[in-house]
Amino acid sequence: MQHYFQPWKKQKDNYQKSRAQLKSECQGFEKAIITQANTPVGTKLVYDGEKRTIEVTPEMFSTFTKEYPFPNKTWDTCAVVGNGGIMAESGCGEMIDSAQFVIRCNLPPLKNGFEKHVGVKTNLVTANPSILLEKYGSLMGRRRLFVENLQIYGDSLLLLPAFSYGANTPVSLRAANTIEDFGSPIRPIFFNPEYLQKLAAFWQGQSLRAVRLSTGIMMASLALELCRDVHLYGFWPFGYHPHRFYDLKYHYYDDTPFPTGFHAMPAEFELLLQLHSQGVLNLHLGDC
Ligand code: CDP
Repeated sequence: MQHYFQPWKKQKDNYQKSRAQLKSECQGFEKAIITQANTPVGTKLVYDGEKRTIEVTPEMFSTFTKEYPFPNKTWDTCAVVGNGGIMAESGCGEMIDSAQFVIRCNLPPLKNGFEKHVGVKTNLVTANPSILLEKYGSLMGRRRLFVENLQIYGDSLLLLPAFSYGANTPVSLRAANTIEDFGSPIRPIFFNPEYLQKLAAFWQGQSLRAVRLSTGIMMASLALELCRDVHLYGFWPFGYHPHRFYDLKYHYYDDTPFPTGFHAMPAEFELLLQLHSQGVLNLHLGDC
């Protein structure tokens, strides 16, 4: 951690090297998202989380975005906001909202006092299908509450890992259809499982041993391809504050316990900290 306490300075060469490596090994810039252009009807998609394939039907195809959702140019500044308890008293809201492109994970709450600490601006938000299951009964019944709760994210992109596990697919398609049926401005998009597979291999190559990458590291990786300056907030998978040492919750907004097993967040954190000390991205752990 001692590197962390030196003032951060971007090191262009290191940033460009990491970015070029991600670009050549994962091609998120063109391939992170499924579109009607890159995934025609009849394509056999290979799930990235389990051994399984699925053929794209016309019905599925109709839920895919027509155009690639990211512009051809690089954004100047991106903020990737993780959900760590470290955000709770951070006062980082304004700084996060000042970024050109703001990425958030797993439909996090932004109102009722959280604004000051996490901001409200959202350009892309991810949704783990487990939330759709737990909070909205897999969208099998009434769906209005789901649509109402999406309002805070405006017309941002809603990124779903629809083809990571077989069980994700029907609920993700229902989410996309619900959004269309209710005329909600949010724009559903699906992760390309081939990209996620390549990304997992990329981080394995950096000695990361995890059953599955966390959403946060997926988004930080994508941001490195899409943005010139990448700022990370809310990435601190530990139960105490880094400077003031008081107890922290896992999430800034609920009492979910610290996870065990599935992800390897402390190991991911080590790698992100390395990128911070190499001047590739700026990992914010202090108050703003
Ligand atoms: O679903 P998942 O466990 O991946 O994510 P989450 O709990 O909704 O949090 C979003 C992301 O923030 C995670 O994927 C981690 O990368 C990051 N995070 C962290 O670094 N430290 C925490 N205490 C909580 C989340």
